[in-house]
Amino acid sequence: MKGLHELSSISLFASLATASVLPRDPALNDVTVWERATPQAPNAYAPAAVNCPSTRPSIRPAHDISDQEKSWLEKRRSNTMDPMREFLIRMNITGFDAGKYIDNHRNNVSALPNIGIAASGGGYRAMLNGAGAVAAFDSRTPNSTNTGQLGGLLQSSTYLAGLSGGGWLVGSIMVNNYTSVQNLMNANPDNSGSTWQLSNSILEGPATEGIQLVSTVDYYDGLVKSVESKANAGLGFDTSLTDYWGRALSFQLVNATEGGPAYTWSSIADDADFSAGKAPMPILVADERAPGDQVISLNSTVLEFNPWEMGSFDPTLYGFAPLKYLGSNFTGGKLPDEEKCITGFDNAGFIMGTSSSLFNAIILSIDQYPKVPQFLKDALKGVLQSLGKAENDIADYSPNPFYHYNNRSNPSAQSRQLTLVDGGEDLQNIPLHPLIQPFRQVDVIFAIDSSADTAPNDGNWPNGASLGATYARSSNSSIQNGTAFPSVPDNITFVNLGLNNRPAFFGCDAANLTGPAPLIVYLPNSPYVYFSNISTFQYSYNNTERNAVINNGYNVVTMGNGTRDAEWSTCVGCAVLSRSLDRTGTKVPDVCKKCFDRYCWDGTVNTTTPALYNPSLILKDHEIKVKSGAGHYIPNFFGLIFSTAVATFFLS
Ligand SMILES: *[C@@H]1O[C@H](CO)[C@@H](O)[C@H](O)[C@H]1NC(C)=O
Ligand SMILES: *[C@@H]1O[C@H](CO)[C@@H](O)[C@H](O)[C@H]1NC(C)=O
Ligand SMILES: *[C@@H]1O[C@H](CO)[C@@H](O)[C@H](O)[C@H]1NC(C)=O
Ligand SMILES: *[C@@H]1O[C@H](CO)[C@@H](O)[C@H](O)[C@H]1NC(C)=O
Ligand SMILES: *[C@@H]1O[C@H](CO)[C@@H](O)[C@H](O)[C@H]1NC(C)=O
Ligand SMILES: *[C@@H]1O[C@H](CO)[C@@H](O)[C@H](O)[C@H]1NC(C)=O
Ligand SMILES: *[C@@H]1O[C@H](CO)[C@@H](O)[C@H](O)[C@H]1NC(C)=O
Ligand SMILES: *[C@@H]1O[C@H](CO)[C@@H](O)[C@H](O)[C@H]1NC(C)=O
Ligand SMILES: *[C@@H]1O[C@H](CO)[C@@H](O)[C@H](O)[C@H]1NC(C)=O
Ligand SMILES: *[C@@H]1O[C@H](CO)[C@@H](O)[C@H](O)[C@H]1NC(C)=O
Ligand SMILES: *[C@@H]1O[C@H](CO)[C@@H](O)[C@H](O)[C@H]1NC(C)=O
Ligand SMILES: *[C@@H]1O[C@H](CO)[C@@H](O)[C@H](O)[C@H]1NC(C)=O
Repeated sequence: MKGLHELSSISLFASLATASVLPRDPALNDVTVWERATPQAPNAYAPAAVNCPSTRPSIRPAHDISDQEKSWLEKRRSNTMDPMREFLIRMNITGFDAGKYIDNHRNNVSALPNIGIAASGGGYRAMLNGAGAVAAFDSRTPNSTNTGQLGGLLQSSTYLAGLSGGGWLVGSIMVNNYTSVQNLMNANPDNSGSTWQLSNSILEGPATEGIQLVSTVDYYDGLVKSVESKANAGLGFDTSLTDYWGRALSFQLVNATEGGPAYTWSSIADDADFSAGKAPMPILVADERAPGDQVISLNSTVLEFNPWEMGSFDPTLYGFAPLKYLGSNFTGGKLPDEEKCITGFDNAGFIMGTSSSLFNAIILSIDQYPKVPQFLKDALKGVLQSLGKAENDIADYSPNPFYHYNNRSNPSAQSRQLTLVDGGEDLQNIPLHPLIQPFRQVDVIFAIDSSADTAPNDGNWPNGASLGATYARSSNSSIQNGTAFPSVPDNITFVNLGLNNRPAFFGCDAANLTGPAPLIVYLPNSPYVYFSNISTFQYSYNNTERNAVINNGYNVVTMGNGTRDAEWSTCVGCAVLSRSLDRTGTKVPDVCKKCFDRYCWDGTVNTTTPALYNPSLILKDHEIKVKSGAGHYIPNFFGLIFSTAVATFFLS
């Protein structure tokens, strides 16, 4: 496999990108002042020095989860109890008194189920398919608590992890004060926030005519000015394409004027709902590209960003930095007395951009657009010259907070620079890593897979390859560091057994594991009411198509609200309970045994090469028709070419 820098040879086809770039009003040249959003960065996008807290920030070893997470968990676990009670009762587990079960264990919350949700990468397709899943799990969604549906699972969950496009979903919800998918879909041109308006590609900027923006030129100007403000802060920060990418993404994902340049990821920790334990804990994932590495392999260090920290449980890095103080000059785990405390580095868009840095190439394609102002071209050229083409997909976290930390095993210990890339580049495209850490004691993971494994020939559906990657990593003694993962079959078996066309459970038998590991509820993107296998590199969606993909995702996880299997919701309840029943020595209800017979992978394999995977619509009667408009929509030619190039790269 060649290095990811192959992506940079996109100029060949990026010139074709012009087809999808249509600035609305290039004549408008006014430069709007970039307002600061409420949140916590001291100087909008530019990190700045602040007074240090009385205990100077430091790096901690990954011996455990953080103290902050521990005390938050106490609140969260007790807040999940009532929603979980209601949820399990509604799951109609015949012969099992769910209410009594929860009540009996009220005083020992660790006996009760500990639930994680993981949303995979895969660009906008993944954000939207994942959104359908989260909407189905969210009791705030109208009708989601009807018979056969899964509303309340989100309220019962402890963790919500996202990666790349799945990270845009998790970020959109959590950065916007634990908002709902419904709210994110509601365009509101009269106020400063209009999230998830994807009909204009990110190259053009938002279409909102409200107070948010006046023109595409202002959009470009704002991108450049904010990134420059970081570079020129006088604190030695390097900027990368990810800064532009993250800023651009924020216009679609962050509900604030100018995409909220002052919104930080760490500020989530102070949100009312989250801090009170009324929302799950968001975690985004990125991979480390160690000095000298061209390729991200399965043993690359995996980092997480949670509301308090960034770092890794891997035996390589094995440390966590306080997220709020990224940008400060840590050495050997300490912040020397003469060093200032920096905040504002952990911009929310930058963190979401880091987890999805594979898409930095979108920003590069702006450069090819003839009408793009020279100042933007110059700015991008500057970034590219300082980094070199091999680094187009990196996010630059200099100064490396882990400088001289864990010198023996930390691959970047001797480097002032820390470079991170898209969390899916190691092929673990579902963010399972944070959720299989033994310290977190997760019992069940709802793994929403929107990967495009079957691309390019039989189109953009998952085939379990990302589960396979996590399984393989958990079997590698040099990197697994105590993590265990259920055995899963190869990607060919997945297709032959239909395990990528319907939900499947892995690791049902807790006795047949290499260590404590959660049960995996695998939820592969599949066509229920709409063909949601849209290219990862389609960058614009009109609202009709956007809503169709979300609705399909809703049906994927509810099996069409039970249309495909009336007992599915019961089976979900059984999966949630499984480890807890083991722990409390409770007999497994018969209805659950039936569920496990039906949904647990039984160890069978079939490695005969299958025909091309070409699924038909599962609920034909409910098909959502997205009519062809009269030339309103411009086919995303750029996306097609780009995906082919990326596919070629991955297959070479
Ligand atoms: C609950 O499950 C039983 C079968 O176990 C079924 O007969 C009954 O209709 C279900 N109730 C509801 C409300 O779905
Ligand atoms: C909720 O269900 C009712 C009854 O089936 C239906 O009339 C209504 O349109 C549904 N609402 C939504 C938002 O789906
Ligand atoms: C966030 O949401 C909570 C309740 O959901 C609300 O009380 C609070 O005012 C909101 N905060 C902001 C800044 O909108
Ligand atoms: C965005 O903010 C506006 C104004 O505060 C609010 O009405 C709207 O619900 C918010 N949207 C989301 C997705 O949170
Ligand atoms: C951190 O150290 C670098 C290199 O010595 C320096 O350029 C930078 O200004 C320092 N940062 C702060 C916040 O002092
Ligand atoms: C990761 O794997 C590569 C290739 O198999 C190997 O060269 C490298 O030493 C490994 N790194 C670690 C940290 O195990
Ligand atoms: C994980 O790695 C760290 C650092 O190498 C080591 O101290 C620790 O014992 C390892 N944990 C397990 C469970 O292997
Ligand atoms: C299936 O996995 C094998 C190796 O495990 C890989 O080489 C191949 O590309 C995968 N095929 C698909 C269609 O994902
Ligand atoms: C399932 O329920 C949701 C929410 O009411 C609805 O949007 C969706 O269309 C339903 N699916 C089917 C197949 O009826
Ligand atoms: C049980 O464990 C063995 C050894 O790891 C594995 O090969 C097998 O697939 C597992 N069975 C199931 C059903 O997961
Ligand atoms: C194995 O998969 C092949 C290819 O899909 C299929 O033709 C065959 O029937 C399967 N074998 C069994 C025993 O199911
Ligand atoms: C929305 O996009 C779909 C898919 O590309 C297209 O078929 C449809 O015509 C578009 N609808 C409108 C109103 O532009």
